[in-house]
Amino acid sequence: MKRLENKIAIITGGAQGIGKAAVKRFAEEGAVVIIWDVNEEKTSATINEFKNISSRIEFQKVDVTKLESVSEAAKKIIDKYNKIDILINNAGITRDTSFLKMTSEQWQQVIDVNLTGVFNCTKAVAPFMVEKLYGKIVNTSSVVGLYGNFGQTNYVATKSGIIGMTKVWARELGRKGINVNAVAPGFIATEMVSTVPEKVLDMLKERTPLGKLGEPEDIANAYLFLSSDEAKFINGAVLSVDGGLVL
Ligand code: NAI
Repeated sequence: MKRLENKIAIITGGAQGIGKAAVKRFAEEGAVVIIWDVNEEKTSATINEFKNISSRIEFQKVDVTKLESVSEAAKKIIDKYNKIDILINNAGITRDTSFLKMTSEQWQQVIDVNLTGVFNCTKAVAPFMVEKLYGKIVNTSSVVGLYGNFGQTNYVATKSGIIGMTKVWARELGRKGINVNAVAPGFIATEMVSTVPEKVLDMLKERTPLGKLGEPEDIANAYLFLSSDEAKFINGAVLSVDGGLVL
């Protein structure tokens, strides 16, 4: 028996990077995977790449910053499958610069996607989970949401905020049969960290007891565990997946 047999799972930002690795793992474990992403081209390529693993990977073009579009997409899934079991709030962006240089626009863009996006997706999906008294919500924080980081006022605000929302929802939704947890990735080799200078990446590897950056699959496996019934008594937790970067 596969770990997510016949579960209906939404993965936001599933076109590339960590989300893409999660799409693969969830599909391998038997879930129907619905990708919510703005990037149509990359999502099509992802679905095509994994077509031998599963024919049950779907795409809905969804901008997580727009509640209306998110709600419409969730309703379509309910019309088709009559349930949503899993929501992985993975989509995120960076607009890094030091605080003194950060514009209001850079601040707002990151708040809109990383924080309001998580609010919107959960707002649209949680009521359907409550109806079934079953659901798994996994939010993506970051090591920097726990400890801060130079040049990331906007991003850190969202990643710390996500930890707060996770704990509130764990309390509010726990009694309705819904587990809400967060994963706090360390530095993972994806497009997002491609803008980080090589020197900084070397320094980070040096400071990580496991001596390397993480891979998207490392985070995908954490999402998978927290979405499975093996984690049924885990609620409100923040799981660090960072090679021990911060201890
Ligand atoms: P990525 O940049 O490779 O992928 C992000 C995905 O989100 C893309 O497919 C993009 O199209 C999608 N997206 C962006 N805006 C969207 C919107 N408005 N609506 C729907 N989809 C949207 O990022 P990566 O590295 O895979 O990161 C995934 C998550 O992990 C993010 O939340 C990120 O903050 C977090 N994270 C990443 C770390 C890393 O080192 N890569 C470290 C810690 C956390």
